[in-house]
Amino acid sequence: MSTKPADTTPGVSTTGRLAGRLVALGVTGSIAAYKAVELLRLLTAEGADVVVLLSPSATRFVGPLSFAALSRHPVEAELMELLPDGRIGHIVIADSADAVVVAPATAHFLGAMANGLAGDVVTAACLATSAPVVVAPAMDGDMWTHPATQTNVRRLRDDFGYAVVAPDSGPLASGQSGVGRLAELPSIVDAVVVAVDGRPVRQPDTTARPPLAEEPVREADLAGRHLVVTAGGTREPIDPVRFIGNRSSGKMGVAIAEAALDRGATVTLIAADVSVALPGDRARVIRVETTGELRGALLEALFGGSGAPVDARFDALIMAAAVADFTPSRPAALKLARADGLSLELEPTPDLLAEVARIAHGLDSSGAATRQATTPRPVLVGFAAETGSLARASDKLRQKGVDLLVANDVTEAGSGFGTDTNRVVILDADGGETALPLLSKRAVADRLLDRVAATLDARDSGVQTAAMQEPAR
Ligand code: PMT
Repeated sequence: MSTKPADTTPGVSTTGRLAGRLVALGVTGSIAAYKAVELLRLLTAEGADVVVLLSPSATRFVGPLSFAALSRHPVEAELMELLPDGRIGHIVIADSADAVVVAPATAHFLGAMANGLAGDVVTAACLATSAPVVVAPAMDGDMWTHPATQTNVRRLRDDFGYAVVAPDSGPLASGQSGVGRLAELPSIVDAVVVAVDGRPVRQPDTTARPPLAEEPVREADLAGRHLVVTAGGTREPIDPVRFIGNRSSGKMGVAIAEAALDRGATVTLIAADVSVALPGDRARVIRVETTGELRGALLEALFGGSGAPVDARFDALIMAAAVADFTPSRPAALKLARADGLSLELEPTPDLLAEVARIAHGLDSSGAATRQATTPRPVLVGFAAETGSLARASDKLRQKGVDLLVANDVTEAGSGFGTDTNRVVILDADGGETALPLLSKRAVADRLLDRVAATLDARDSGVQTAAMQEPAR
């Protein structure tokens, strides 16, 4: 029986057969992956602190959010990504877990493990750990009985000392009936209990363990709200094969869209060039390439294409996209030849955010109030990509006419383009500035959405901030 450590994850039971234990739950890409969510719950009910590792194919069956919310730890899914504190996530887990349980374990996992191939975080953690490993295979019946699978299972059990919880017999996802169903979850929990029995708790010290999720899971405080979010970098064509682009990956904008969806919002995501997965069916996703296309999509989503709307079709706009400031004046219709040399003439693009703010506030291009503002008044949020100093950000907030401006120094390590983390200062039109620590982009998104949700709630209850009384010019 384990002794209870001094530090425990909030919400984790301090009683049960796994009290005080850190269990790493590896999930690989089987149709049974959804059962791992319930397995996590059962392990937690036994007192285990659980941290989840997902193989790339597992993420196609179950999203990391459920696991992160239930485990209260960030999910490890990327072999090549570091924790925000610079440690290697799967190694931290391998070094601190009392047991690793892989459920469901696919035929591919068994084959990779039997050969010491660590191509994802699940196999890498198993290879790197000295903790006991429990494996619960699940697959099609013919795959399970294949000599290759059986040889791999023997290797894991006999050579590596892994506990294998054999699959059950019954109907399978393939339509066949046979042996291959993931074993009953209580028997997997029992195997973990047996695996750790008699072993000392490895590292009750929380500082040596995987970090806790930085952010609490938010309520559905954006239900009934329509948020329009832009992400990624625009591309301005030079000729049919070349363009002027920027380093935006879309991670920041997509994190905002995902966070807003998780908080119940209806989201229109206008995505320029991105290198991350988009939310899919959960959001209305509009793909654009150029600043001109982004402008058209924005005006359509926000105002139905009309330049003088009265009823707002959106509650908030968050412009995280990196929009080109210049575009070639005369893009060539045919591919330019190197022999001709190249001298590009560029012209400035329109400032889309400033244009949206003017329309929403009923102003003309000179800043004069010439028409009715849209009602209810939407919340407008810009980002500012700065280099070296954020001194210009408050001017940008005023020039663009936004309620909130999220400034990031894109030259700072861990911030800005392509990173999973960001350090931002949120400026508001009342002159307030909130500096956030280095956080994951998802956590930055949630902190920003806290502000947006609060501003919308204040708007609807008739409490106006100074920023919302005067049209921003
Ligand atoms: O996508 P990632 O790799 O995750 O990187 C995130 C990010 C660095 C792109 C993001 O955090 C960020 O800073 N986005 C804004 C980039 C930018 O265009 O900054 P800017 O300071 O040039 O523009 C200020 C604001 O005006 C932005 O909201 C921008 O969307 C908007 N803008 C800019 C130019 C233009 N012609 N029209 C605009 O609306």
